[in-house]
Formats: sequence, C-alpha cells, structure tokens
Amino acid sequence: INAKMIVDKDFKVSEIDPRIYGSFIEHLGRAVYGGIFEPEHPEADESGFRQDVLELVKELQVPIVRYPGGNMVSAYNWEDGVGPKEDRPTRLELAWRTIENNQVGTNEFAEWANKAGTDVMMAINLGTRGIDAARNLLEYTNHPGGTYYSDLRRSHGYEQPHNFKTWCLGNEMDGPWQVGGKTAEEYGRLAYETAKAMKLVDPSIELVSCGSSSSDMPTFPQWEATTLDHTYEFADYVSLHQYYTNYEDDTPNFLARSMEMDHFIKTVISTCDYIKAKKRSKKTINLSFDEWNVWFHSTADDNKMEPWQIAPPQLEDVYTFEDAVLVGSLLHTLLKHSDRVKMACMAQLVNVIAPIMTDNGGKVWKQTIFYPYYYTSVYGRGIALDPVVESPKYDSKDFTDVPYLDTSVVYNEEKDELVVFATNRHMENTLKVDCDIRSFEGFRVIEHVVLENDDPKAVNTAEQTNVAPHNKGESHTDGGTLHGILPKMSWNMIRLR
Ligand code: AHR
Repeated sequence: INAKMIVDKDFKVSEIDPRIYGSFIEHLGRAVYGGIFEPEHPEADESGFRQDVLELVKELQVPIVRYPGGNMVSAYNWEDGVGPKEDRPTRLELAWRTIENNQVGTNEFAEWANKAGTDVMMAINLGTRGIDAARNLLEYTNHPGGTYYSDLRRSHGYEQPHNFKTWCLGNEMDGPWQVGGKTAEEYGRLAYETAKAMKLVDPSIELVSCGSSSSDMPTFPQWEATTLDHTYEFADYVSLHQYYTNYEDDTPNFLARSMEMDHFIKTVISTCDYIKAKKRSKKTINLSFDEWNVWFHSTADDNKMEPWQIAPPQLEDVYTFEDAVLVGSLLHTLLKHSDRVKMACMAQLVNVIAPIMTDNGGKVWKQTIFYPYYYTSVYGRGIALDPVVESPKYDSKDFTDVPYLDTSVVYNEEKDELVVFATNRHMENTLKVDCDIRSFEGFRVIEHVVLENDDPKAVNTAEQTNVAPHNKGESHTDGGTLHGILPKMSWNMIRLR
C-alpha cells in the first residue's frame, strides 16, 4: 500500500518543550523500593540507588519525573519522609494498601533526580490535607533558609534549597477511589486557595490544576470547566491522564487508540479556551499529560494481591510488541499537539507499568516500550512540523477512518537534522510513503531505525530480548523525495541530514 506526505520547514506546529518526554515515579509496588532504590543490591551506590537503573534512566534523557504520586499522594504526610531515617514512621499506605516505611522521601528523591539529570514535578496532597501542608512543604523545599521549615531542611543535611519548579495541585481528585476525593466545586475552591498560598511562598513556581482522571469519567469535561473557572488565575497547566487497554485482543482497534488521545487533547484545549473566553483572559492554560501509557496486563493479578506487604510487585505489566507500536503512536500524538502539550509523563518509569524492569537483587532490562520512548525522547527535540499526510484508511470497532500511516516530524535546527517518526498500522502489508521534502534540499537518510516483529505478543524478559530495533531500514532519498519503506506493523525513525 502507498501513502504520500509533504514536509516543509515552514509548516510548524511549535518549538517542542522537552518536558513532554517526562516520566513518573510513585511510591507504589517496586517503583521506589527494588526499583530506583535497593541498598542491598550489588549495583547500589552510597545512597542506596541502583546505578544500573540510573544508567537506563539517563539513556532515556528523561527531563522531568513526577513524584511521589499518584493516588498515594492523596493520603501522604510529607513530614514522614524527611529527617533521620530511623525516626521515620511506618504507615499503612491506603491507595495501594501496602506498608510504607518511608526510607525514601523528598530529599532522597531530589538527590536521585540530580543523579539521573532530571527535574522533579512535585505533587501535593489535596486529599486528606490542604493549604497548610502544601505551603510548609514548599517552604521546606524551595526557601533558602532562616525560617522554620527551610532551617528544618538544612538541619536534615540539605543546605541548598531544591527549588522544585513544577507542582501538581493534587492527583485525580475526581476519582471515587481517591482518598479524600472531591466534587469539582470542592476541589476548585481548595486548589485555588492552595495555589494562592503557594505562589505567595514562591512566585516562580508553575502549577498544574488537576484535570479528569480519564476522558471516560462521567464528569469529563465539566470537571475541567468548573475547576478551571476557580483555578485559572494561578494555574499554568491542566493535567490529563489516560491508560490504553487491549482486553478484547483486537490489534487494529488497539493500534488506533492514539486517535482517542488526540480527541481527548482537543477537548481539553477547547475547554481551557472556553474558560479563557468566559473570563476575557489573555492567559492561555497549557496541558500537562502527566499520566499516559498502556496498562491492563497486570490488573487481574493485582486484584488478587494480599494487602499490607512492603513493596510487593504491583502493576507490573509485561509489555508486548504491539504495545510498543501504540506507544510510538501516542508519542506522535503528543508531538502533533506540542503547541499546547508542554509536559507529559509516561506512567511510570521503573517496574510499575514501566519501560524499565528490575529483579530484586538481580538484573535490569528494557521492556518493548522502552524503544519508541528512547528514540523519540533523544531525537525528537527541536521544532515539531505539521506534515500533510495522505494515507489509505481502515475502520475498526471503535474508530472510523484510521490512517495506516501515523507520523510526526521534527526538525532539529541545531543539528540541521530532519527526523520522521512513522508507524505502519497495517498488519500484513509494507507501507510505501513518498514524502516530498521540498525545503530540505540535499538531505540524505543517515539512519532508518525499525521496530518490527512477526509476533504482536512478543515480550522481553530478564533473560531474553525478543523485541529490539534494528537500523537496517530501507528508506532512501531521490532528489527532493524521501521514499519511506515501512514494514508491516512497525514503528520507525528516519533521520536525514
Ligand atoms: O499510575 C498508576 C495510577 O494511575 C496513579 O497512581 C493514579 O494517579 C492513576 O489512577
């Protein structure tokens, strides 16, 4: 089958905010304990952080990591996680019904983030707590010294403030499962007053108002309209969360789920701009898609989990090749909306619905979804372009007119490099793409990376890497045309210079 594209330097979406390649570490399952932190592991450094895990995180060039939750943050007392470790309380963790011994907290995480070369996106507890806990935590992390909480931090061995810039005003506060869940009115008022106090403590911070926990919520998008009506003055972003599933084992339908993400983003943009119009405001609220991924493989096992264990395996989805192909498309979608999506977090980073997996005391390895995330994060920097695409289409159970070709294009001005990311959703046929690259005269293909596999359900394990990319793609240029050759059901990156 054949498709056509036109790519032009002047067809710009936006400068890409690197923070769209963010991720997430929650105190959940083995993300922290046994994931990033395992003092008994032979690879642990002097602080207990696994260096083998750190290496893979650095490879991904993750610019920002959301912490400490997630659902967990809605019943979390940040004070439990600071100060001498022997004095920290062991608590019932209510969101995931485990035991939390608080051996990692805010300062240790800041230290880990430093080592990983990433920023921290902090989330505050607006479930069981509110203004007071939030402003105290911010004073603790960001104020230089000479006050109660900043001096408390210094007494804990952290002389310099962490200066966390980005803060989430709670997590999924619309969810009935959330400890201290709220109606839109309740949340809107609390978030507004908390945001006001936080910006008095440190006006340089950026705040994320809590959006719906998914587009399937019955309160979506009225939740966004009502809450933003309250928080508009102090919020800089609104959050979006969505996980994609393939319970029905319908691959063509599953591979089209990025269209759902696209529709979700468009609806949230419209809702933000409706409130902007209503308020006659000059300010634009941008989007933080701070939880996204495939999540469904582990749900049945998690439902059988015995409560009150320390760091049990939870949400340990083992990702297939087809999951990786969808993740590639979800990344195209974020890039296509990079004019409004300024932050996004693949949820999560290690062990819990994650690209990186570990064995306690043992190996670390890359899941299938590591690869599209890695290539897009490392090479998808610069300006997102808006290609004109003409592709044959198919219909699936939930979607109509799904283009077989899904693509995003980035121009890196610094390196004078054009990067075409492209997915072929066709399960049997190669897709030949004739791409007019008129404004990139003389550019040649320097690398064509292909992620392909004959088995959509192939997975990677500690012992065996069954799904990994190769760079023997056959795309080439001829005059001002790039002839893209995308194998059946594949994700591709074609770099030209
Ligand atoms: O990422 C796993 C969970 O999914 C998070 O804790 C929560 O915010 C969402 O429901």
